[in-house]
Amino acid sequence: MSTADRQIGFIGGGNMGQAIIRGLIQAGHPPQLLSVADPDSACQDELRNLHAGLYISPDNLAVAEKADVLVLAVKPQMMRTVAEETAASERPADQLIVSIAAGTTIGSLLAWFGSEVPVVRAMPNQPALIGAGLSVLTPSASVTEPQRELADYIASSIGTAVWLDNESLMDAATAVSGSGPAYFYLLMELIENSALDFGFSKDVASRLTVGTALGAARIADTVGSDLADLRRQVTSPGGSTAAALKVLEDAEIRDIFRRALEAARDRSAELGESGSSND
Ligand SMILES: NC(=O)c1ccc[n+]([C@@H]2O[C@H](COP(=O)([O-])OP(=O)(O)OC[C@H]3O[C@@H](n4cnc5c(N)ncnc54)[C@H](OP(=O)(O)O)[C@@H]3O)[C@@H](O)[C@H]2O)c1
Repeated sequence: MSTADRQIGFIGGGNMGQAIIRGLIQAGHPPQLLSVADPDSACQDELRNLHAGLYISPDNLAVAEKADVLVLAVKPQMMRTVAEETAASERPADQLIVSIAAGTTIGSLLAWFGSEVPVVRAMPNQPALIGAGLSVLTPSASVTEPQRELADYIASSIGTAVWLDNESLMDAATAVSGSGPAYFYLLMELIENSALDFGFSKDVASRLTVGTALGAARIADTVGSDLADLRRQVTSPGGSTAAALKVLEDAEIRDIFRRALEAARDRSAELGESGSSND
């Protein structure tokens, strides 16, 4: 059976559940093989609007009992309840569990589902909501290669998938790609504020800022390679860019960013240990 023939079930059809379902439909997954459980009637209406062929139910077990892969897309604080409820149901023997809950560790998932259950912990980031996400994934020991491909197929429907073989780097990944969009939004906000101070209208300030960020991200993605080299290419000695970068270097921006990401990584670890959300 190929990945495209798999029954994919979702527990939780909110923002992220809908984004993945939308991504899978766009990727060509048959909607008839997608099912989703959510108690919220407004949410069920949104799901119906995504595609009439989806199986939508308020009953978690009705979805859990027929899924080859079960995506847990509820808030972290609901994870234990949902996991223990579904773990006790009549699920397919080799069902793969994929959790996207921030901060919920593989150890917790195995404690709730059973130590032999194949589990993938996935951490998408916010741009996944428009199919431009970056998901970091890590498998439990019993995940087979076809199950890994299935999880990769699901994560790839909302952007790029990056695998970590060791969950211990998940907190660092949270600091980089999970929290990452916020760092770029802050930078864009500050640049846009300066553009407004210079006298540009809000519309022009926004277009100059976001258009530049988009272009820089695209050239970094296309050329790949060395970000420092790309920076040097727009920094003539004694020029305007060099004047700006000198102010940032004098303010020790490198040290500030290093400390900021370390703070995010350490906080992610603390929240994971306490079983709280990582958002
Ligand atoms: N949004 C992001 O950018 C993002 C990024 C990375 C990871 N995540 C993770 O993705 C998960 C979902 O986030 P989200 O933003 O999609 O949240 P959300 O929009 O609140 O969606 C969660 C859905 O689950 C439903 N639900 C609550 N209890 C349930 C239960 N017992 N059984 C079945 N469904 C239940 C909720 O219904 P009610 O509204 O009625 O409670 C809601 O519709 C979270 O664990 C979060 O950490 C999200």
